[in-house]
Formats: sequence, structure tokens, C-alpha cells
Amino acid sequence: MHVFDHKKELVSFLEGERKKNRTIGLVPTMGALHKGHVSLVEKALSENDLAVVSIFVNPTQFDKKDDLEKYPRSLDNDVAILREISKNMVVFAPTVDEIYGDNVSSQSYNFDGLDKVMEGEFRAGHFNGVGTVVELLLRTVGPNKAYFGEKDFQQLQIIRKMAKIKKLPYAIIGCPIEREPNGLAMSSRNERLSETTKEEAGFIHQTLLTVKSKFGTESASSIRHWVKSEFEENPVFSLEYFEIADEDTLTPMLKKQDGQKYRAFIAVYADGVRLIDNLRLN
Ligand code: PAF
Repeated sequence: MHVFDHKKELVSFLEGERKKNRTIGLVPTMGALHKGHVSLVEKALSENDLAVVSIFVNPTQFDKKDDLEKYPRSLDNDVAILREISKNMVVFAPTVDEIYGDNVSSQSYNFDGLDKVMEGEFRAGHFNGVGTVVELLLRTVGPNKAYFGEKDFQQLQIIRKMAKIKKLPYAIIGCPIEREPNGLAMSSRNERLSETTKEEAGFIHQTLLTVKSKFGTESASSIRHWVKSEFEENPVFSLEYFEIADEDTLTPMLKKQDGQKYRAFIAVYADGVRLIDNLRLN
């Protein structure tokens, strides 16, 4: 396994691989790897000759300094986890300086409104930061395919839009959410939860499952009310948003339209940690 922290060396190594007709799957991450990441890496390896895993806590996508500082970092452990999976792996772990030089800022994209709702509403500038770093990683690595988890479903749709606007010729692949046995969506942020809260956090997925069962018979507004009241009664979690939205446009559902796919989206705080989840409804 190769570990690079400079773009130049990574690019020249990958050029050599491409000359040998080896296909490349890219898995962008911010490290603190868990089973969800491992499943992305395994998918990338099953569909390509080589997986490039980037590990970079991207400062421009954090709207709160405190959140950026507290984001878990465990590069040595991450590298050890990846080493166990396969030798057909390249780790790219650059510094902030290597990625941004002395201009740590984001491009401004027109995501056609995909960035104005949910995460975008509550995390100013977040998606411009994600778009900027993912565009740079895609252009640097030039993968055949790039893999992203559906836990960040809005991010996935925004990355697809960015790739389309910028005419990037790389396939963007969405992968299903990996969950703990109690249903909690796997996330690096879960490390910051107490054991008790982690156990109780199955409540988030349970709520989404009930939403799904209500979706056939109840209106979106009655479901929104129900979710709000469930969280008002639960002292462990504080609800930031719950939304039922069209999968493609991410616009909140008013009335169900035939042929449209809908998803429920949620963000809550527990132990001061922000957790998100989503579930396809039809
Ligand atoms: O989902 C993440 O971990 C990050 O947003 C990503 C895609 C690696 C960009 O920094």
C-alpha cells in the first residue's frame, strides 16, 4: 500500500498505473474511518483494480470553528485499517497547505437550489466547501468511479450536480448507509457520543421507519408534526430539521406526485454532536 501526502507524487504514481490499464476508484473521506467507509472501499476495490482513499479534514466545509477542531483525527489508525483490506490501495493524506496553499477558501457554485435546503440552510457555505475539495480530488486522481455514502444524500446529489456543471467525466456512485445494530447510521461523529446516547440514538432510525410506514396514508404535514412532537418528548435529542423531500430536486414535498421518489431527511443534536440520517420512502 502506498501513502502519499503530495499531489505531485500521487499524480505521477497514478499515471504509471493508468499506463498499465489499471482502473481507479476514488473514495474521498475525512478519516476517522468506520465500517461505513470500509464498505465504500470494498465496493471501490470490487469494481476497480486500485482504490485511492483520500483522508483530509476539509476546513472550508465547516461553518463552525469548534466543529472543525473537534472533528476526530486518527491517521495512523486509519492507515492500519486500510492496510488490512487490500494491498491494491493508495492513501492520499495531504495537509491543508498542500490542498489550498495560502488561499483557504471555496469556489462558489450554482447548485440549482440543491444547497438551499436542509444542510444548506443550517450550515452556511458548507456545500461550496464540499464541492471545492471534491472537484480538486476528482481532477487530481482522475478516477474511473468515485464513491460516496448515502448518509450524506444531499451531498451526493450536490456532487453529482457539480460533476455535471463542470463536465467532469467520472462516474459518481452512491452507496447504501451502513448502520449499527440499533439502526444508528455509522458516522465518524458517533465517536463523540456517550455509550448511553449511542444506544438511545437508534430512536432516530426508528422514527424514520415509522415515517415510512405513515407515508402511504398520511400527509407530509401531518408526518412533520408527528416527528416534531416525538422529539419534543425526548430529552436526549434536539431536532434541528425533519423534511420529506423529492430525491432529485430535494424540494420539500407538498403533495405526493406520481412517479416521484421521496426521502425523509433528519438532523438532530445529541451530546452536542450533530447527527444526520435519511431514508427512502417509496
Ligand atoms: O463526506 C465526507 O466525508 C466529506 O464531505 C467529503 C466528501 C470527503 C469531502 O470533504
